[in-house]
Amino acid sequence: MPDPHVSDLSVPELLELDRRHVWHPYGPMPGRQEPLVVESASGVRLRLAGTGTELIDGMSSWWSAIHGYNHPALNEAARDQLGRMSHVMFGGLTHEPAVRLAKRLVDMSPEGLEHVFLADSGSVSVEVAVKMCLQHWRSLGRPGKQRLLTWRGGYHGDTWQPMSVCDPEGGMHELWQGVLQRQVFADPPPVAYEESYADQLRELIERHADELAAVIVEPVVQGAGGMRFHSPAYLRVLREACDAHDVLLVFDEIATGFGRTGSMFAAEHAAVTPDVMCVGKALTGGYMTMAATLCTAQVADGISRGEVPVLAHGPTFMGNPLAAAVACASIDLLLGQDWQTEVKRVETGLREGLAPAAELPGVRDVRVLGAIGVVQLDHEIDMAAATRAAVREGVWLRPFRDLVYTMPPYVTGDADLARITAAVCAAAREG
Ligand SMILES: Cc1ncc(COP(=O)(O)O)c(C=O)c1O
Repeated sequence: MPDPHVSDLSVPELLELDRRHVWHPYGPMPGRQEPLVVESASGVRLRLAGTGTELIDGMSSWWSAIHGYNHPALNEAARDQLGRMSHVMFGGLTHEPAVRLAKRLVDMSPEGLEHVFLADSGSVSVEVAVKMCLQHWRSLGRPGKQRLLTWRGGYHGDTWQPMSVCDPEGGMHELWQGVLQRQVFADPPPVAYEESYADQLRELIERHADELAAVIVEPVVQGAGGMRFHSPAYLRVLREACDAHDVLLVFDEIATGFGRTGSMFAAEHAAVTPDVMCVGKALTGGYMTMAATLCTAQVADGISRGEVPVLAHGPTFMGNPLAAAVACASIDLLLGQDWQTEVKRVETGLREGLAPAAELPGVRDVRVLGAIGVVQLDHEIDMAAATRAAVREGVWLRPFRDLVYTMPPYVTGDADLARITAAVCAAAREG
């Protein structure tokens, strides 16, 4: 009897069609690298087609699957919602999953964030955040305030506005310099607090205040721009300088939100409320795409006072009920457990397991924060060799540039964590 889950196509046939027709993230066409074919996933394991090999997932599917795969509570939420409606337009209509989700997000996010725009991806939520900020000032009669300030080393997504605030040098969007809106960049934030760097931030915000709509940063952890950590004290510096000079503050918590750094949102490390906050990735526990842009009453009020008193943004799949229902279930799952202890346990496992990497030749730095473990090399990694080394250890990792890192699901057990860290070390050694 054929396994009903195995498609009619053989793995080589799938791969050939994939190479010819399917564009992969940051990939050429036709494809040059052979991806692994995943047949199913459960708990923290990905099962590969053909061989049935299982890999422990050290990536949480780009940091989103915090509860692991095929989770009974999330499956149930999806099935239950599917039985009612998977989608309905959001213009002129509303529904319980979206309302419940917005309420949960407001309740759990830093005090003062009250309004929620449901977007369809992290990048789109950043577009919406930028639009909110520009429109806020335009509505208040200050249309000249339309640039953004950020620090180098950041990453905010792949659509147009987010690309303009990604690191303009050495990052993946360098190609578009001169085409993208020219934003204001500070140096990358140092790991520890330095008064001279705080002064640089203050000085830039003051100097450009008349043209700045907002400062946008990833708080505490810069993710895809280099997996760098910095002192939360800089967030307070930004808050004070933004307040002093009529500039809005946007925190992109798409990577850091929902407990990843050890607090529910990274903003909490500094007890700072931004004017606008983006969340995504783990919002639906990695089940489907959804993100959200939250803002304060002040931002919304500014917009509503304008000549065009509405936020002119409305994606077709805005507020998708299926995604919203799963997001509610994912948040309930997170809040219903002692997630801080779980993230701390993962942090301890990563610290212990990655410590030996510091002794490896070619390793520049090893750093851990919450459920994030990073090994930085002193050279560009051989991605294929590093991936092979991890797979040989039974682990899925996706190294990039000079980095081998892991952001495992919070439910990863200690034995699996040890295998993940061993695989990170192997990838760092061989990559
Ligand atoms: C901080 C941050 N912002 C924005 C994004 C873009 O999100 P998405 O890939 O869902 O568009 C990412 C994705 O990695 C991210 O890490």
